[in-house]
Amino acid sequence: MVPTDDINEVKEVINYIRAMDEGLKRTSHELFSVEILQEIHSILLKGTRSGKKEPGKIRTVQNWIGPSGSNRHLATFVPPPPEKVPELLADLESFIVTDDRIPPLIKIGLVHAQFETIHPFIDGNGRLGRLFITFYLCQKGILARPILNLSIYLKQHREEYYHHLQKIRIEGDWESWLKFFLRGIIEVSKEALANAREIIVLKERLLDTLVKNNAGGLNAVRLLDLLFTKPIVTVADISSGLDISHQPAYDLVDQFEKLEILREITGKKRYKKYLFVDYLRIIERGTGQ
Ligand SMILES: Nc1ncnc2c1ncn2[C@@H]1O[C@H](COP(=O)(O)OP(=O)(O)O)[C@@H](O)[C@H]1O
Ligand SMILES: [Mg+2]
Repeated sequence: MVPTDDINEVKEVINYIRAMDEGLKRTSHELFSVEILQEIHSILLKGTRSGKKEPGKIRTVQNWIGPSGSNRHLATFVPPPPEKVPELLADLESFIVTDDRIPPLIKIGLVHAQFETIHPFIDGNGRLGRLFITFYLCQKGILARPILNLSIYLKQHREEYYHHLQKIRIEGDWESWLKFFLRGIIEVSKEALANAREIIVLKERLLDTLVKNNAGGLNAVRLLDLLFTKPIVTVADISSGLDISHQPAYDLVDQFEKLEILREITGKKRYKKYLFVDYLRIIERGTGQ
């Protein structure tokens, strides 16, 4: 991987987290508006490879989806012409905010497919459309926190995902898409549940380890709690997080390293950073855009 790609990827992840935070805040009281879409889109793409492609701006040109380097005639899908986009988004908005009797999981499945079909931006439609699934489920109270990440499933089954979107258009086959979508919800829910259980077991195991090794007393338990909210730390983070001075924070880190709870990652003499390895291994399974 060339370094610029690397930087780009880091930026994309940071933007994604910012977009998630801001989107959850904005959609907690107002579910959908074109302004919200634009705002989140601009956070998502700013300063990345896609950043040249007009962050936050609804497209005014024709786009298409197809193999890279292809043209409109070879495209698998040509989204609606730009002059139709505002009207289609307005329709989608009224569908989203209408209080009908469609169960929320079905409704967001329909909304996602329609959003991808409208393809209102030049780039970033996939990421934004998937973020919106989380916003919707949180707003409807189906998720208390944004822990269910359907993107992993959609990525693992990318071909099938695209195929179903395509079949809606060609054959009007909404049912197959919805079945595929709901299977995904079930699959990632099960994984999220298993991960949550694993985190609880990990916490119990580590508390046990601390007690058995007679390690660090109350501050060690407090550090463990802190690590579950901040799994990458410096000694300074620990000292401010636990409100203790530098030396005892350093001693705690030393103990946690010996017990293999923390691992230093910089290899430097100063400004060391420590990873809460077992926990990160669990939570990284749930990430992905
Ligand atoms: N045949 C299709 N019809 C409609 N949408 C599609 C189709 N194939 C792919 N997509 C959607 O388009 C997204 C890619 O569009 P793009 O704007 O490049 O988004 P991103 O940059 O976030 O990947 C895919 O992730 C998928 O959601
Ligand atoms: Mg793209």
